[in-house]
Amino acid sequence: MIKSVSTTPYQDQKPGTSGLRKKVPVFQQPNYAENFIQSIFDSLEGFQGKCLVIGGDGRYYNREVIQKAIKMAAANGFGKVIVGKGGILSTPAASHIIRKYKAFGGIILSASHNPGGPTEDFGIKYNISNGGPAPEKITDAIYARTKVIDTYKIADFADVNLDRIGKDELPGGTILSVLDSVEDYTALMEELFDFPAIRNLISLGFRIAFDAMSAVTGPYAKEIFENRLGAPSGSVRNFMPLPDFGGHHPDPNPVHAKELYDEMMGDDAPDFGAASDGDGDRNLIIGRGIFVTPSDSLAILAANANLAPGYSGGLAGIARSMPTSGAADRVAEKRGIGMYETPTGWKFFGNLLDAGMATICGEESAGTGSNHVREKDGLWAVLLWLNILAVRGESVQEIVTQHWQTYGRNYYSRHDYEGVDTEAANGLVTNLRSQLASLPGQSFGPLKVEKADDFAYHDPVDKSVSEHQGIRILFEGGSRVVFRLSGTGTSGATLRVYLERFEADSTRHNIETQHALADIIAAAETIADIRSRTGRDAPSVIT
Ligand code: G6P
Ligand code: ZN
Repeated sequence: MIKSVSTTPYQDQKPGTSGLRKKVPVFQQPNYAENFIQSIFDSLEGFQGKCLVIGGDGRYYNREVIQKAIKMAAANGFGKVIVGKGGILSTPAASHIIRKYKAFGGIILSASHNPGGPTEDFGIKYNISNGGPAPEKITDAIYARTKVIDTYKIADFADVNLDRIGKDELPGGTILSVLDSVEDYTALMEELFDFPAIRNLISLGFRIAFDAMSAVTGPYAKEIFENRLGAPSGSVRNFMPLPDFGGHHPDPNPVHAKELYDEMMGDDAPDFGAASDGDGDRNLIIGRGIFVTPSDSLAILAANANLAPGYSGGLAGIARSMPTSGAADRVAEKRGIGMYETPTGWKFFGNLLDAGMATICGEESAGTGSNHVREKDGLWAVLLWLNILAVRGESVQEIVTQHWQTYGRNYYSRHDYEGVDTEAANGLVTNLRSQLASLPGQSFGPLKVEKADDFAYHDPVDKSVSEHQGIRILFEGGSRVVFRLSGTGTSGATLRVYLERFEADSTRHNIETQHALADIIAAAETIADIRSRTGRDAPSVIT
């Protein structure tokens, strides 16, 4: 029944910011997925007889790997496997199901916002029993194991039926439970938010447009916005999850959700536009005529969360990744609550959430979430916005501008240089590192460097230290530029340049963003020598 299969290790299975991500043909090499899944199991202890959750975002190769993972989980001794119907679970729904059914952990198959299809991206990630991504201690152990693995275990039975909801005993005794992917998640959202208030707002003619980008949130969004909240049919677009996301890049930003963006900026725009990514953990928020940056969105949600039933008791604290703007810090300061600055990657929030130190977390990369699960959550962010809009009865534009008036505005933009030669990108970072000691005191146009460092995080809960998490150059007066290489790309290197300037004066809150940041953009170029080192005249994406 159980086969032990000899295998040879691959040397390139190092998990990045969010699990192992590679092109589909890489995953299709003999035993490639099996080696990684067995290495996950080999790095864990005490799961015999326990439950494993398995789900993915429905992208190309999802079903094949789910079948392998189920057979391997059974062979390795898990007592129960929970999968979403059709093998589909959004990342936040998977996190919720791990928590709700007290599973030992979960395997999530996704490459998030990266394109899908036969030659595009695939990914495997392991989440622990709190529902969150495995911490570095575990991902390091998995990587070490992949380099020496010589056998994996797999049960020898026919593919299971993923499309029939219900329980089955698999040969060998493991219980397979296929769940409705949407039900548990929707129930959780109904507990956290005032659905009647949102329903009422919509019934009064408030128009929403949600773009599921042909990805995993389609079925969730249809159920929640149209069926439960009464938005007219058609309010949720591109709601059929497709293995190649319709050939698009399922990344909810003004560049990849351009149609929605243009509609929201046009005449007769809906009141509220939103989108989510491939696996449902990111969000894009656009009001009529105004794009809300993820950093501002985090600050505004944190400042108003008490208007939603799930957060009426206030927040214990806020956490943000280091490159995320300091807008949320100002909210935390005013409220006298904790503020935590972590490295990029949702996994760093897990300890703070578990310890009750932070309630709401967010990242500039379009992720926001709370202690309701241990992943960022796209639909959660959209629902919290709708709850706030329903209670305040003001437009997105009014809420954002009032927020800036109260707290000041953090002008913010990210410039990405995608597919850069890896050596050139590493050279750029090494060069920056070598300047850290000499930068303070130097001036670039009107900006004078106050401090420059390579961000290191000291986790206040488990005391672990994570170094080299991004080069920060802080200027006098609160402006800054951060340089980091992406940990999620699959071809070449992606250089990210994060630019920020604080403006307290509300008469100066209406400057076009790139214009407002022009001095910092120029300083970043001079300091990092981006053009000549990358051979690029301009960023590939500006958000
Ligand atoms: C994933 C993680 C996020 C992180 C983002 C950064 O989406 O879940 O927590 O912020 O990657 O991506 P990057 O490409 O900048 O490493
Ligand atoms: Zn994602």
